Amino acid sequence: MTQYSQLPESIRHLIDRNRNNNQSNEFNNLIRQGGYVPPEQDLLNDAITALSMGKNVLLKGPTGSGKTRFAETLSNLFNQPMFSVNCSVDLDAESLMGFKTLDYENDRQVIDFVPGPVTNAMKNGTFLYIDEINMAKPETLPLINGVLDYRRTITNPFTEEIITAKEGFGVVAAINEGYVGTVPLNEALKNRFIVIDIPYLQGEQLKQLIQATSRLEDERTIDLYVRLSGDLIQAVTQGKLAEDAASIRALVDACDLSAMIPPKRAIRRAIADKLDEDREKEFVLTMAETLFG
Ligand SMILES: Nc1ncnc2c1ncn2[C@@H]1O[C@H](COP(=O)(O)OP(=O)(O)OP(=O)(O)O)[C@@H](O)[C@H]1O
Ligand SMILES: [Mg+2]
Repeated sequence: MTQYSQLPESIRHLIDRNRNNNQSNEFNNLIRQGGYVPPEQDLLNDAITALSMGKNVLLKGPTGSGKTRFAETLSNLFNQPMFSVNCSVDLDAESLMGFKTLDYENDRQVIDFVPGPVTNAMKNGTFLYIDEINMAKPETLPLINGVLDYRRTITNPFTEEIITAKEGFGVVAAINEGYVGTVPLNEALKNRFIVIDIPYLQGEQLKQLIQATSRLEDERTIDLYVRLSGDLIQAVTQGKLAEDAASIRALVDACDLSAMIPPKRAIRRAIADKLDEDREKEFVLTMAETLFG
């Protein structure tokens, strides 16, 4: 638990007070792994503070910047199971709330309700991670608004049951908002969040992350990858490359491959060939050529 011990005492105190101590929670297998490295310590401190106060946290940042890892780290620090929904799939009320199903009880047919992630998280007082919340369809927004509302109460449209969240319930959401911008978030939704902007990890911290998580061991090559990452981010901010070119996920993939194959080919596979336009691919390959020659 290095992460926890690195936090300021006041923040550790908040976690201690709000930590899930229920050893027998049937959902404890949903307590996630930590491992997020904050580019600035305040990002984590502020998210912990907001969650401890029962506020919803919105992580906003480009693809592969560590938003999901950030949310998982919060689950880990609070020892709190985290249910997860992704709004980019065909998310409807059933995939949030659950669905009715036919079952047998002593040869008698009964209707059962299989709870969905929202129902489960509210009733068990755990965390709920809502990914790509800006992609939620208009018809599901009222439900989500209810979940986020300070009253924390919703009516399950399938059972008419009124659900009020148990203590411990907390919401972390994420949107993919990069330098170029994406689908804007509905105002009513945005209003209900404390917003944390997640930048890409860079420099010495990125180097440490690569050393800790990638298969690549050669320090000189790692240093070059850190420089490549900085160059890629700059090209993205200048509009020369699409957003995903700068993803840390893709960068770590390239580092992994480089443990076995030449960096230029690794960069082609992990970064360049994912880009839509030939011009962009060429641009990345030229960068690779310049650095790794
Ligand atoms: N600051 C960071 N600390 C630790 N790991 C990081 C960090 N930034 C990126 N990563 C690593 O990069 C990968 C991508 O991170 P993650 O999936 O959390 O990104 P994301 O922002 O959720 O991306 P997307 O918007 O595509 O869902 C993961 O393997 C993650 O561990
Ligand atoms: Mg994610």
